Amino acid sequence: MSRFVCQLLLGLLLSILAASMTPAQTGVVENALPKIASGDSLKPSINGTRVTGTTPGKPFIFMIPATGEGPLTFTAKGLPSGLTLDSKTGIITGSVKKAGSYVVSITVKGARGQASRKLKIEAGDHKLALTPPMGWNSWNCWAGAIDDAKVRAAADAMIKSGLAAHGYQYINIDDCWEEKRGDDGEIITNARFPDMKALADYVHSKGLKLGIYSSPGPKTCAGFTGSYKFEEQDAKTYAKWGIDYLKYDCCSYGEIVRPKEPEDFKKPYRIMDKALDSCGRDILFSLCQYGMGKVWEWGEEVGGNCWRTTGDINDSWGSMSGIGFSQNGHEKFAGPGHWNDPDMLVVGMVGWSANLHPSRLSYIEQVTHISLWSLLSSPMLIGCDMTRLDQFTTDLLTNDEVIAISQDPLGKPAGRISDNQGIQIWSRPLSDGTIAVGLFNTSQQDAEAAAKWSELGIEGKKPVRDLWLKKDLGDFSDQYTAKIPSHGAVLIKIGKPTVTD
Ligand code: GAL
Repeated sequence: MSRFVCQLLLGLLLSILAASMTPAQTGVVENALPKIASGDSLKPSINGTRVTGTTPGKPFIFMIPATGEGPLTFTAKGLPSGLTLDSKTGIITGSVKKAGSYVVSITVKGARGQASRKLKIEAGDHKLALTPPMGWNSWNCWAGAIDDAKVRAAADAMIKSGLAAHGYQYINIDDCWEEKRGDDGEIITNARFPDMKALADYVHSKGLKLGIYSSPGPKTCAGFTGSYKFEEQDAKTYAKWGIDYLKYDCCSYGEIVRPKEPEDFKKPYRIMDKALDSCGRDILFSLCQYGMGKVWEWGEEVGGNCWRTTGDINDSWGSMSGIGFSQNGHEKFAGPGHWNDPDMLVVGMVGWSANLHPSRLSYIEQVTHISLWSLLSSPMLIGCDMTRLDQFTTDLLTNDEVIAISQDPLGKPAGRISDNQGIQIWSRPLSDGTIAVGLFNTSQQDAEAAAKWSELGIEGKKPVRDLWLKKDLGDFSDQYTAKIPSHGAVLIKIGKPTVTD
């Protein structure tokens, strides 16, 4: 037999063998579409966070996230003095006059009925990010190619796609907007951002909030001008423009101080925290220094509303699962107003500007990603091109029962309950008296996973609900078992709510 025929036969044999193996045996995760609930109900519903915070006297903006067949109209009872609600858009603006905890009764009416829910407005010092921030950040899709038009397009798409109606609020510009300092020291935007104040006004006119990025060092990570020695002035400039969120990325600060002592890590963040406190505007403070010096242990102390716990994520199973499943133990440092941040979401069209492509995570892996990030109380910052959302990505990001885990007002992130041969169980208590449980299969084979009552600290017969399917599964005693595909997840809620709206 000639060498060519031998090769042909061998090739044929290998392809027959490969075809007869399951994806798990070949180590390739099949990109099958998992069954998840799709689309919004036509009946009105109020979604997203149930609690928001503000400093009295500072500008306030909050759009009530609501879905249902329109036109929708909004009413609110018990708004604190200083705030007004636009009944057509559901946008609350103004500035709260007096510190306090206000319980506002919101009602939304639509073509198919009405819905009511309480929204707590906490007015006082340090009341931002009482639930993890939700929104979009430019880096994972546009990186250095970000400009004013793309930010406006992201804000438009946030509304048009319906994502804002599920609670996504922030539109965050990452690195690469800076040019240089003027003679008076004020930071000047580059030509791609002709008017930052006009951009903020545009984003606010939609009921959304605008975020920006800087570094405590002289340069940002992409080599643009950082805030070193200009922290106070920069914070005032951000306030003047109408910025609502600052990602403060360590980068070249290492050239100023090589951190050794805990205080070396904290110092640059303390300086900016002080500057933000006195700039006249509420600006959420997001620390980015990749987990150095165990930032989770002191992020709150230096005024951080969230802090990156890891290096940069990318859209591969190794990166996403490596980061996500290594968060165990950090949960005890997070809570309302201060969150661990395992980095942004890598779903949809991502690509860091050069190479925009659909996330290389399989659909099943993306369900794992969003389930885990919700359980972890991570910020939910979408990193994709918002103008090209497909139905699967939209469904993944707008499941209100999953979002309710991320935004649970109790704010107790999940920890790992067990890990047996790649089957991991994570759980967290919820404010309504139930518990959320994630069953994950990180192994290469499809496998059965069991959430055992004894390990979860519960007893007796309990109702179980599948959150991705939005479906009651029945009552279970002792344990709930599910077959989970390789790299997949099931997210359930166990128990009967003891607290309702
Ligand atoms: C990295 C950071 C990324 C992005 C980038 C911008 O340090 O982790 O999320 O902000 O800098 O240059």
